[in-house]
Amino acid sequence: MTGRFIVFEGGEGVGKSTQSRLLAEALCARGLDIVTTREPGGTPGAEAIRALLLDKDGPGWGTRAEALLFAAARADHVETLIRPALARGAWVVCDRYLDSSRAYQGGGSGLDDSDILTLHRIGSAGLLPDCTVLLTLDPAEAARRVEQRDAGKLDRIGGRAADYHARVADAFRRYAEAEPERFAVIAANGAPETVHARVLAAVDSLCP
Ligand code: TYD
Repeated sequence: MTGRFIVFEGGEGVGKSTQSRLLAEALCARGLDIVTTREPGGTPGAEAIRALLLDKDGPGWGTRAEALLFAAARADHVETLIRPALARGAWVVCDRYLDSSRAYQGGGSGLDDSDILTLHRIGSAGLLPDCTVLLTLDPAEAARRVEQRDAGKLDRIGGRAADYHARVADAFRRYAEAEPERFAVIAANGAPETVHARVLAAVDSLCP
């Protein structure tokens, strides 16, 4: 039996980490074997690449090098954690994945979507989630949540200008429209439990 692969996507401050945790807890309570993870990161190698990518006092990267590093981190994550978990029948709940590369390095930074998909084919044999939950939120509300959470300590990518993040949000929306069978677009306004109920309803069709 193979498990299911569920990914949370969206811009900064939309509540992906909270919703990943709440979904993982709900699925655990149903007796499923759940693996929670995140990108960039999730394995020792990918976490090392995360630090290279996001540390404010790190070297800094051009757009292409950045895209390659995200793809390399993902390749390690997929090969050593995600595929083995799915193969043993576990469900994997991941905070960010390929569509973040498409939205940030593509929509935000201007790389071709087809190039990012090629990197994904090379690095991770093109593995796609069964369901990608895109959390959407009014930018002003997202900025307020980020300010509360990070108190001005944004990482190298989170700290980019508002117009960059607007292009990212726009790109996410376009990908979801283009692949409605893979995406569930969920409004992230309201209390965490309210949003969680929306997520559960969307993911329910995957459940045994
Ligand atoms: P994360 O720590 O999840 O930030 P947040 O909690 O704000 O969502 O992600 C780190 C940053 O990396 C975030 O700004 C998005 C960016 N990112 C990319 O640019 N490309 C990618 O492929 C991934 C996975 C993340």
